[in-house]
Order: sequence, then structure tokens, then C-alpha cells
Amino acid sequence: MTGTVTLTIDGTNKSAKLPLIQGTIGPDVADIRKLYADLDLFTYDPGYGGTAACDSKITYIDGDQGVLLHRGYPIEQLATESTFLEVAYLLLNGELPTAAQNDEFHNGVMRHTMLHEQLRSFYSGFRRDAHPMAVMCGVVGALSAFYHDSLDINDPEHRRISAFRLIAKLPTIAAWAFKYSIGQPFVYPRNDLGYAENFLHMINAVPAETYHVSPVLAKAMDRILILHADHEQNASTSTVRLAGSTGANPFACIAAGIASLWGPAHGGANEAVLKMLGEIGHVKNIPAFIEKVKDKNSNVRLMGFGHRVYKNYDPRAKIMEQTCKEVLGELGIKDDPLLDLAMELERIALSDEYFISKKLYPNVDFYSGIILKAMGFPTSMFTVLFAVARTVGWISQWKEMIEDPSQRIGRPRQIYTGAGLRDYVPITARG
Ligand code: ACO
Repeated sequence: MTGTVTLTIDGTNKSAKLPLIQGTIGPDVADIRKLYADLDLFTYDPGYGGTAACDSKITYIDGDQGVLLHRGYPIEQLATESTFLEVAYLLLNGELPTAAQNDEFHNGVMRHTMLHEQLRSFYSGFRRDAHPMAVMCGVVGALSAFYHDSLDINDPEHRRISAFRLIAKLPTIAAWAFKYSIGQPFVYPRNDLGYAENFLHMINAVPAETYHVSPVLAKAMDRILILHADHEQNASTSTVRLAGSTGANPFACIAAGIASLWGPAHGGANEAVLKMLGEIGHVKNIPAFIEKVKDKNSNVRLMGFGHRVYKNYDPRAKIMEQTCKEVLGELGIKDDPLLDLAMELERIALSDEYFISKKLYPNVDFYSGIILKAMGFPTSMFTVLFAVARTVGWISQWKEMIEDPSQRIGRPRQIYTGAGLRDYVPITARG
């Protein structure tokens, strides 16, 4: 506690002292927990833009400065010097692993990559043209029907194994959703490969040929996973926490997170960016498109731009742009019209008063779609990859919440604007 803030209801003598809570970094937070009891008053904050729903040690974002830290480490350093599984360890456990801990964690996760063989039959229940995110919601939700031995959320060992299972099995579930949609046989995981390498193997290999994963592409995939691993209390993470606050099992909570991530304002944005670039079609059409975006009545947004928290360049977007160039180089794509279009769109938008005044900058999704398309992923798989990466953040945040003794069931309040008390009218008496 660092002091108080006094809230007075104007024109009355009713006031309350709200304790101020200070985090390690970031603005002070007024503790309103007793406001209702003290003043018979709720706070109103649709979208929760000014409300901290929990305290967390995992991720820090300074949206004005464009800073993203995981457990204190800048995302730029983690993305260039670390690996996805090392970041997963860091997010879950709070510290970077020693070499021995890293090996143990890597082996522990990779030992859980296979799915229960009966889960295979779930896939054939879906239409071949089902969106893979629909398949992900279903199959991940179904995990809780298979792993009864790790559903006790109050048992630390159960929590640990559930985390391993989720981190390990999501790539397999995702790759099989893809294989099912294109009618190819499922490829079983290979635990001798790295995490991203194994994922690309399950996506691209077929039984008829030997497939070698390009180290450059495996590295790029690993980096994409790191960049999406966690982002503090975003919509899907808050969904996981809210579902978990009831005591629901982690598999059910992660399925809820996947459902929340699906929307175009969140995880579906990189799919929307490619669609938008396709619709613009040519650099010469950019000015007309920008005018449409600026027209309030058009309802058109520049996808991949803007962020609820970042009012500066999303630090992940810069790394993504660099990775995009590396991947296109590795694949021998010298001139990609989509990349040219994206770079020109970014240049024009960043010098336009509309975007400058509203502090709209490229977010992580602006370039990721171009990379994933070049790597051969269909657009419907983009959000799925995001879900694979974010599972690490979701399960870390879930674990932190369950281990927090002050954790309570999440239960927002409302301003009721419906009809006042009235008597039931029999149907024969209604006008
Ligand atoms: N293009 C054009 N105008 C925009 C955009 C955009 N992409 N984003 C925001 N604005 C404008 C709004 O019209 C609004 O203008 P107004 O003040 O004149 O009404 C103002 O900027 C503020 O916009 P809000 O919608 O209130 O901002 P919010 O913080 O709620 O939205 C969001 C953030 C949803 C990400 C928004 O910027 C957006 O829709 N961007 C495009 C979708 C996208 O890229 N999403 C990915 C986010 S990153 C992620 O989830 C991994």
C-alpha cells in the first residue's frame, strides 16, 4: 500500500478512502473492493479498460512506450535469444531454467505429445470443411474426458501434468485438425525433434516421402510461438481466468480461451489482414482504401493496426517484420506482392494524421499472416497457431490464479437498464 485516494459523492457527506496498491512497475491502482459496502456504489467500466481484475507476476506491458516484458525479460531478447519451451518454463515457473531444468522440462513436455488413440475418432465426427478452430474447441474441450488422473486443480502435481499435457498436445491436435481438413493421414509426433520442428513435421510430412524440416523455418516458427506466448489480461486470457475461477478443470478452461481467441478483433486478426490485403489488391488502391478506413460510416478498419493497450509500435510487430523477411528469403520468395503491399500500407498509415492522432500502429498480426501464408499454412490455420502458442500463457495465468490464496470466483456487476418491477399479465389480457 502506498496511500489512499478519497472518493466523495458530490452533494453528500458520503465518502470512502480507497487504498492505493502499487505494482513493481506501472501506475498505482485504487482498491475498490469495499466501495459497494462503504458507499453502495459500483464502478462502470465496459471492456475493463481501467480495471485490474487480478495481480500477476507473469507479463508487463507499457502500451505507451511499446514495452513487453515476460517475468521482467524484454520480448526482443526472448524472441532472439531464447526458445519457445524455455519461455514456457519461464512463464510457468517465474525464472529461466538451468541447463538441467531445461532438459528435464523439454523431455517432460515432449513425453506427452501423443493423443489418446480414441481421440482420433473425434476428428471424423467433424465435416471436412469445418474451421480448424471449431475442431480445436471440440477436441481440446474433450481432453478433460480422457485425463481424469490430472483434474484435481488443488493438487500441484495434477496442475503440473495438466500443463505439460496441454503444452505438448496442442501442436498434435492443431496439426491433425489441418491434416483432416485436407484429407491427409495424421502424422504422429516425433519426440526427437524440437517443439516447433515437430509441429512443422506433423503439418507437412506425409507417409509416402521423407520430410526434413528447414532449420530456418523451424526457428521462425519457434519465434512466432514466443511472440504469441502471453500478453497479460487480454480477452482470451481473461476468459481462461474467469472460467478457471469457478474451479473448472484446465482443459475446459483452455477450450474456453480458444473460443474467445477465435474472434477477428483478437486472434482472428492476421487472417483478416490477409483478406484485407487481397481485397486492396494493388499498391495503387491503397489511398482509396485508407479513405474508406477513415470514413466513420464505412465500418472498415485497417486490420493489423491498433491495439487496446499499445498506443505505440507493438514491439512484437517489429520482430515479426524481420522474421517475415527471413522466411521469404529462405523460401526464395524475392518479391512478394503481399509484403510489398503491407509495407507500403504501413508507410502510408504511419504518416497519416488519422492514425497518428489515434495512436494506431501495426500490431503483432500485421506481418504474421504473410509469414504463415509463405510457410504454406491456409488462413484458417492462423488463429490455430496462435492458440498453440497462447496455451502456454493461458495455463501459466490459470496456475497463478489457482495458487493465489485471495482468488475468488469472477463475478462482474452491471447497471440494470431494463423494466422496473411489474406484475405478470395473463396472455388473454395482453393487448
Ligand atoms: N483502423 C481504423 N480505425 C481504428 C482501428 C483500425 N484498425 N482501430 C481503432 N480505430 C479507431 C476507432 O474507430 C476509434 O475511433 P474514434 O475514437 O473516432 O471512435 C479509435 O481508433 C479507438 O478505437 P477502439 O475500437 O475504441 O479501440 P479499442 O482499444 O477498443 O480496439 C482493437 C482495439 C479492437 C484491436 C482495434 O484497434 C481493432 O479493431 N484493430 C483491428 C483488428 C486487429 O488488428 N486486432 C488485433 C489486435 S492484437 C491481438 O489481438 C493479438
